[in-house]
Amino acid sequence: MAQKELVPGLAGVPAAESAISYIDGAAGILQYRGYRIEELAVESTFEETAWLLMEGELPTAAQLESFRKELGQHRELPSPLVSMLHDMPKDAHPMAVLQAAVAALGACEPRVPFGDEAAFRGAWLRLLSAVPSIVATHERFRRGQDPISPDPTLSTAGNFLLQLTGDRPSKIAERILDCALVLHADHTMNASTFAARVVYGTQADPYASICGGVGALSGPLHGGANERVLASLQSIGSVEAVDAWAQDQFANKGKIMGFGHRVYSVKDPRSHALQSLAVKLFDELGSTPIYDVALKLEQVVVDRLGDKGIHPNVDFFSGIVYSKLGIPTDQFTPIFAIARTAGWMAHLHEQMQDNKLYRPGQVYVGVAERPYVPIGERG
Ligand code: CMC
Repeated sequence: MAQKELVPGLAGVPAAESAISYIDGAAGILQYRGYRIEELAVESTFEETAWLLMEGELPTAAQLESFRKELGQHRELPSPLVSMLHDMPKDAHPMAVLQAAVAALGACEPRVPFGDEAAFRGAWLRLLSAVPSIVATHERFRRGQDPISPDPTLSTAGNFLLQLTGDRPSKIAERILDCALVLHADHTMNASTFAARVVYGTQADPYASICGGVGALSGPLHGGANERVLASLQSIGSVEAVDAWAQDQFANKGKIMGFGHRVYSVKDPRSHALQSLAVKLFDELGSTPIYDVALKLEQVVVDRLGDKGIHPNVDFFSGIVYSKLGIPTDQFTPIFAIARTAGWMAHLHEQMQDNKLYRPGQVYVGVAERPYVPIGERG
């Protein structure tokens, strides 16, 4: 039988119909439910965005108020999960801890039968609220500090910073993190969303599915790039050193983290928005030398690779923003996961409406059928 042609990485192959987000990669446009990301980042909050992604419309003031209250009530973690976070090795990567913790959360929560809308909504509230608490609680434990109780009256961003640092955040810090969460909340059929939908398509529960998403997001070609961007900028060290560093990467065909995208051939619109946030933050708190290194690196990389469609992606400026907020480098990808939980859950809900088990084909390149060789006859 003739085999179908392989599409490496399924690049551009539609895996589902989706009404959640839309990208025009050539024009640098990203929309959630028809709203431009630039507008949402300025006008909206993470809570409004999470609601929009799931429900399809922006919430009314009354809906938003009760949604914020519901989220506030779901932040306390179950005690077996707190003990688990306490006992994790201090040098474990936070994404490994988060993946294990989401599975453990699922084990502590009531079962979510596939197709049960009320149970699914419960899991949505629980995951949106508990994932930030997990990340912050683990960070406290690994620093040898006690966890901080959540404040149900704060926003997701504000409460996360409170649980992380023990201090109520400044308005600017809360707002900047809130914008970053909006910018990372969904991004069409990316690797982690696809992974989460594949798991959910087996009628596994939402916690197991989000674990799949967290695992996929942890890789350096996806969410894990943001911490590597900061490591690159720090290792370059100064504006004067950028050119030589970049030429070395070009000569060795090295992948420069924070650049390039499967879908965008221009600068990622989220990168534009994050750069503006960085500038706003520097106006308040003073600039950081690494930002000048980043600007120079952008210029050198785009001069050399811009014609190939390689420009800064979302991860290029996010690390600079997070480090200015005092967040440790290896917590950047968990913050991405906090935001993306909103998109993953909206996609699972969409998958639930019209589920078909994912079962792609393959192009077989192994040996043809042959007789079994008894062990004594094997050379
Ligand atoms: N630096 C240098 N060259 C690059 C880069 C880069 N960052 N990205 C792509 N290229 C080159 C690559 O070497 C290849 O060149 P050639 O045709 O000469 O062999 C060509 O561009 C195509 O690259 P590809 O890896 O086949 O393209 P892709 O569509 O699979 O890549 C990507 C998408 C994001 C995996 C890739 O651009 C990359 O590895 N970037 C660095 C990691 C990164 O920043 N990831 C975060 C992505 S955005 C966050 C998210 O959505 O998760």
